[in-house]
Amino acid sequence: MLRTPLLMAARSSVCRTVVEAAPGTGALVSRYVAGTTQERAMPVVGALVADRYVTLDHLGEDVGDAAQAQTTVDAYTRLLADLADAGHAERAEVSVKLSAVGQFLPGDGEKIALENAREICRAAEAAGTTVTLDMEDHTTTDSTLGILRELRVDFPWVGAVLQAYLRRTEADCRDLATAGSRVRLCKGAYDEPESVAFRGKREVDLSYVRCLKALMAGDGYPMVASHDPRLIAIAGVLAEDNGRSADSYEYQMLYGIRAAEQVRIAADGRRLRVYVPYGDQWYGYFMRRLAERPANVAFFLRSLVSK
Ligand code: FDA
Repeated sequence: MLRTPLLMAARSSVCRTVVEAAPGTGALVSRYVAGTTQERAMPVVGALVADRYVTLDHLGEDVGDAAQAQTTVDAYTRLLADLADAGHAERAEVSVKLSAVGQFLPGDGEKIALENAREICRAAEAAGTTVTLDMEDHTTTDSTLGILRELRVDFPWVGAVLQAYLRRTEADCRDLATAGSRVRLCKGAYDEPESVAFRGKREVDLSYVRCLKALMAGDGYPMVASHDPRLIAIAGVLAEDNGRSADSYEYQMLYGIRAAEQVRIAADGRRLRVYVPYGDQWYGYFMRRLAERPANVAFFLRSLVSK
């Protein structure tokens, strides 16, 4: 019931001002965000790579001009150089939202985003690591997959996210289940219309399993991005049924969610990657995390009135 209003609030500048100023916000944000600067996030990465893998997200989305997009590119190139210097590049890659590098800019936004993403890929290649493109709402799917195709000509290791709640995704999974193709399968975090997306939990979960079957049976590298215990168990069975070795797929979870399960999977000899967001543009990301779990909202509201 709260999911739709929270996801609408995620796009409202008025709500943003209220939430950012609220006294209880900081504590809850720090559960999901590794720090407001790269300097604060790096020790978190250093600790995680001891037993897990990491993908870092420099928070930000939907930039308003080309200069802001370039600021995002600069943040990623600095991050990638520092990951290499710290010796983390083997276990830490980056995740990029194309809207943060210009995809929605009027006129030649897509072209700007492609060139900016290329620059980040060159920096990743120099650092010795990879890039995965995040997926935003359904109006961006075709554009993002188009940019993915272009990037993979020069950087075949670029990965992409597919969202199981979209009706089209099972077919996209089959298309992308090819050799060398890295696909991060998640349920999907935006408020999408019934015409393009499954809206009920059961339908989304069933779609996730169909998509997983396509990815696990294919020749690519599936990345199982979910905290859902049933889907994690099913992924294990499908990997075994398809004769996959432990290094031919991986599990992924978000920073701050089910940390004990992350440790357990890694200790079990399976690959577990943590998605680690950092930066001061945390509002949209934080609101999507609130929307996923009603208990978070109650906790957040209580913290506001108890201050
Ligand atoms: P589900 O929501 O059913 O949660 C299963 C269990 O996990 C819950 O019962 C609870 O225990 C725990 N949990 C889940 N969310 C929680 C939260 N916020 N706080 C506390 N506990 C929580 N989406 C998207 O649209 N585009 C993208 O690019 C990405 N990228 C991405 C990368 C990675 C690595 C992950 C793990 C997820 C994403 N997502 C995403 C988000 C994804 O679409 C989805 O919204 C969340 O992962 C929650 O879905 P689950 O599969 O975890 O199931």
